Amino acid sequence: MAVLPIFLVRLLAPLLRPVRVLVARRWLREAEVDAVLALLHPAWRLNRVFARVTGREWVSDDLLALHLRCNGNARGWLPGQHVQLYLQMEGVRYGRSYSLTRVGPGGRVELGIRRQPAGRLSNRVLDHLPVGAWVELGAAEGDLCWPEQASGVGLLAAGSGITALLGLLRDALDRGYSAPVMLLHYVRESGQRAYQAELQQLMLSHPNLQVRWLLTGPDALVGAHGGRFQPGHLLGMANFNLLACGPAGFVEAVRSCWGGTMQSEAFSPLRRVAEPGQPVQLDFARSRQQATGDSHRSLLEQAEEHGLRPAHGCRQGICASCTCTLLGGAVRDLRSGEAFAEPGQPIRLCVSAPLGDVQLDL
Ligand code: FES
Repeated sequence: MAVLPIFLVRLLAPLLRPVRVLVARRWLREAEVDAVLALLHPAWRLNRVFARVTGREWVSDDLLALHLRCNGNARGWLPGQHVQLYLQMEGVRYGRSYSLTRVGPGGRVELGIRRQPAGRLSNRVLDHLPVGAWVELGAAEGDLCWPEQASGVGLLAAGSGITALLGLLRDALDRGYSAPVMLLHYVRESGQRAYQAELQQLMLSHPNLQVRWLLTGPDALVGAHGGRFQPGHLLGMANFNLLACGPAGFVEAVRSCWGGTMQSEAFSPLRRVAEPGQPVQLDFARSRQQATGDSHRSLLEQAEEHGLRPAHGCRQGICASCTCTLLGGAVRDLRSGEAFAEPGQPIRLCVSAPLGDVQLDL
């Protein structure tokens, strides 16, 4: 139980500066200081950011706005950046990066979290993380910034790419940005038009903002006003600065036909999922070794076949000594058939087989 209320934890955070100096000089150990602080409040740490879930709001069929209040350690964060969210699940720590859609006063932040078909952490957050729960957040990263001097701004988002751009847009409009802004959001189905009500409201209160949703799924109206991205969608933005955010292919398509100023952020490209029996590419990142493998044998067996010597014990998925981080691609648990495709996720090599091309921290 917390001895101190969270507002006091936030208030007292600057007073820990001398302790930080002692830790930096190695006169104190951060883990030990954190252990004492955690006794006073579950979110109090010397440097690490812990945050309480203060609200959950579905903003489309598959995207949740998660409202959080951080301890006093979230400093210098900006909307449009992204942070890792960490959760402990069944004794294993999982992390995944999400965009900051809002950074408010008093440590209040909002993240946009989209459901991923094989996303263990995302789905846990969406379905089981209640208001009042505590999560840990990593450092904020990302270089996207609002082009203040532009004569107009074009925002192009595909899927959950809207989250990074919405953070920047909200902030710019709040600060009174008055040049024309055109936002195009590409979604497969109409139920995925995230933040639609808010964006419609913003169009009413800010006449310089125009928003268009373009469906790319089976119901798509292909042409100048619909379908996947095509150069015609940029009509009217000739002198604008562009910001594009979405899957790598989408960002590349925009970049290839734009000669003006552009910033972009691309999700890591999805790796190929192999048909049964087809070879797959194994990328052992730490060993700087690539090899061809298959999708029916364990990664431990295949790594050993290619000369690597991963730590292991039981070879049955029990002892956890072969645990390794999945950096990209998807794997299948040979015991349950469950698929995992979350970058940063720990997997047990002896009971995981690649579902396609994979990259491992090995
Ligand atoms: S070797 Fe024991 S869990 Fe993989």
